[in-house]
Amino acid sequence: MCLLLNTIPCIFAEAMAVPLLNKKVVKKRVTQFKRHHSDRYACLKKKDDGCNLLPEIYSRVMILPCFRTHSGDYVKLTVGTNWRRPKGIDSRVRRKFKGVTLMPNIGYGSDKKTRHYLPNGFKKFLVHNVKELELLMMHNRKYCAEIAHNVSTRKRKEIVERAAQLDVVVTNKLARLRSQEDE
Ligand SMILES: *[C@@H]1O[C@H](CO)[C@@H](O)[C@H](O)[C@H]1NC(C)=O
Repeated sequence: MCLLLNTIPCIFAEAMAVPLLNKKVVKKRVTQFKRHHSDRYACLKKKDDGCNLLPEIYSRVMILPCFRTHSGDYVKLTVGTNWRRPKGIDSRVRRKFKGVTLMPNIGYGSDKKTRHYLPNGFKKFLVHNVKELELLMMHNRKYCAEIAHNVSTRKRKEIVERAAQLDVVVTNKLARLRSQEDE
């Protein structure tokens, strides 16, 4: 920790908190399980009034009746990619035929000791302001902070500075450094 930041040049300024976790974090699978047949239905921008599918996916996408969404410019996505367990009596995915889409199951779960840990060895804690960051004061070896997406550049700076004093790792401390206009 670096409390004397303002008085003398601090030689430890670069040292970062070391995670307490002593086990390797293994994520068995990082890609999403996609819902069966979700790739068959397209969600495309609407042109004029008809549904215009792009030619290259025209052949393998089923054309469905078009619906206007509330924003009015998208074709309704009829089968989303979020996982739903197939329930059909004949479903080959449910019956786990060779070569079909894999289904999620308990075996993909992470080791309890490393569950919810990021690959950097910390758990993530979302902060919106300095006060929330200060909750991590005594926990900087278990949790790291992530600044919420809607925090302005000016407040981000304050949070990042305070995090350096508290020796809390911030996952996205470089965000919004360049562009000032999206505040
Ligand atoms: C950011 O979003 C959160 C959650 O929606 C909200 O509680 C908070 O007030 C927002 N903060 C700002 C600075 O807009």
